[in-house]
Amino acid sequence: MKILVTGGAGFIGSHTVVELHDAGYQPVVLDNFYNSKPGVMDGLEKITGKKFPLYQTDCNDFDGLDAVFAKEQFDGVIHFAAYKAVGESVEQPLMYYQNNLGTLLNLLELCRKHRVRNFVFSSSCTVYGEPDSLPVTESTPRKPATSPYGNTKSICEDIIRDFVLSKAPVRAISLRYFNPIGAHPSAEIGELPLGVPGNLVPYITQVAAGIRGKLSVFGNDYDTPDGTCIRDFIHVTDLAKAHVKALEKINKTDEASYYDVFNVGTGQGHSVLEVITTFEQVNHLRLNYSFEPRRPGDVIKIYAQSDKINSELNWKAEKTLAESLSDAWRWQQKLMSEAPIS
Ligand code: WQD
Repeated sequence: MKILVTGGAGFIGSHTVVELHDAGYQPVVLDNFYNSKPGVMDGLEKITGKKFPLYQTDCNDFDGLDAVFAKEQFDGVIHFAAYKAVGESVEQPLMYYQNNLGTLLNLLELCRKHRVRNFVFSSSCTVYGEPDSLPVTESTPRKPATSPYGNTKSICEDIIRDFVLSKAPVRAISLRYFNPIGAHPSAEIGELPLGVPGNLVPYITQVAAGIRGKLSVFGNDYDTPDGTCIRDFIHVTDLAKAHVKALEKINKTDEASYYDVFNVGTGQGHSVLEVITTFEQVNHLRLNYSFEPRRPGDVIKIYAQSDKINSELNWKAEKTLAESLSDAWRWQQKLMSEAPIS
């Protein structure tokens, strides 16, 4: 089966290309390199031995996308391509709504036109906001998003649901990611934050590498055991494998129109401070950090209940926090030892 992977040169997209290939699918990468680099394709080739087809196309370009669909005759789409920086979305909401909603609408329209029946969407636990109870299940009510980024994810889920309810011949799954971290164990691909990392783990690895002077821990006065926020950190390779399982689930269903949502998390919460101390222990180093004021918009505690994906998709996170942080550090060291990925 030939699968279009939009944003396939990105962090989660590239790791999913590897897992699709290993599972016998034919991934085709489409990326505009807004938040990724063409050199990632070399890393994919080193891991798999395969040179994947690549289209440098923007999903906002309907005609360009249409031509790719016409040429490739896809069996399915996994849609990663979106703007994902929470803070940037607050400063530039219209750019986020235009891009994240517009690209999805183009893709669904083209799935209809080219009779592509299988669709997996990259959603986020951010749709839950600050949950009233933990762990969150798929029936935990979604809350008004704390950022335009989060709101685009919630609206995109509704767009897909309504498209399927219109009896469009599409079978779709939205995967609600928790916090993806780590890198492929080979250190040939990993997270490539362009500019100052907004997320915790890439910032940690850059402090450990001496690229950044110190990690600011945004708040240690929360109502948690050690005062810092709690998240469900999931290894990116485990997350990538969940996309293969989602395709398998869709292919097994005999319904013409199908839609469902799955949490993709480990089911375990870890605090920011636990991540720091685990990183130090597993990588035998000391991190320079200090406690700073809270970051506006941060959720205090969230982690998944992953029973539904465990039972219905036969998927379970395999890697530990320590493994994720060891892989993240190995990737950072690789980045420093070689010519920059271009
Ligand atoms: C985690 C914790 C910070 C940086 C967001 C999106 C989510 C997904 C991942 C795209 C928080 C603390 C962070 C730092 C810190 N987006 N932190 N110092 O905000 O949980 O999730 O990014 O895929 O949809 O919502 O992730 O890594 O930014 O923050 O103390 O330098 O680490 O305050 O408590 P977040 P994060």
